[in-house]
Amino acid sequence: MTGGTGTLGRKVVARLAVESAAVGGAGVRVLSRGRGRGSFVGDLTTGDGLRPALDGVTTVVHCATAPRAGDADVVATRNLIAAIGGIGGAGQVRHLVYISIVGVDEHPYSYYRVKREAETLIERSGVPYTILRTTQFHELIAMIAGTLARSPIVLLPTRTSFQPIAASEVAERLVALAAGPPAGRVPDMGGPRVRTCADLMHAYLRGRPRLVASVPYPGRVAAAYRRGLHLTPAHADGKITFEEAL
Ligand SMILES: NC(=O)c1ccc[n+]([C@@H]2O[C@H](COP(=O)([O-])OP(=O)(O)OC[C@H]3O[C@@H](n4cnc5c(N)ncnc54)[C@H](OP(=O)(O)O)[C@@H]3O)[C@@H](O)[C@H]2O)c1
Repeated sequence: MTGGTGTLGRKVVARLAVESAAVGGAGVRVLSRGRGRGSFVGDLTTGDGLRPALDGVTTVVHCATAPRAGDADVVATRNLIAAIGGIGGAGQVRHLVYISIVGVDEHPYSYYRVKREAETLIERSGVPYTILRTTQFHELIAMIAGTLARSPIVLLPTRTSFQPIAASEVAERLVALAAGPPAGRVPDMGGPRVRTCADLMHAYLRGRPRLVASVPYPGRVAAAYRRGLHLTPAHADGKITFEEAL
């Protein structure tokens, strides 16, 4: 498991541990850069520590990410694939499960471009894989709302919506996918409802006094969000609402 110390990864690890114990499995290995945070110390950017962590492993769930570090996720995924190819002869790892984001094919946001490139590396790696794309997590939307709400005036982008989903529900799906056979790109997974930024902001504020206004955000990335490339209303699979998550 990579990223097993993160928001999503912690939930995946908890579920995987239960599932593994139930079937008498070998348990879950968590790779982390921090000593004592996971069960194996390693760094996907440098490749250090990957081979010992992978030794004997048959399924890898790849949730690590560094959104503010340029193309670090591409480098990380390339190193992971190389390490998988370098251990135990070809074919030891029989399933690589990757979490991605709805709409990364077309969306110009640089982090989404990086996610698409990482997907492509996995698709071409020769390692049997499953890729699940989901919408933004409630946790992320709440974090952004919290940052914006520090100001008495909150300026949101006009005509822009999100479809947030609980990381716990994504974790549940990922664990089910990891337990099954490699399935390639599986159907997208979205939160229960597409909601405007203003609606989500008011839900976050729960009556706290803020002046909330909408303004047109400039640029291609804001335009792509307005077009809703990151939404999947046909796959409103999540049940947990933003309010419940809060
Ligand atoms: N957040 C969302 O709304 C959302 C929506 C859809 C999909 N996703 C995807 O879900 C995944 C998890 O997102 P998250 O928000 O849960 O992430 P997160 O909380 O930011 O956690 C990032 C994880 O990546 C690990 N990591 C980062 N750089 C690493 C490196 N060089 N070597 C090894 N591990 C490294 C960190 O481990 P250590 O710090 O312990 O090393 C940490 O466990 C990502 O792939 C993301 O694109 C997220």
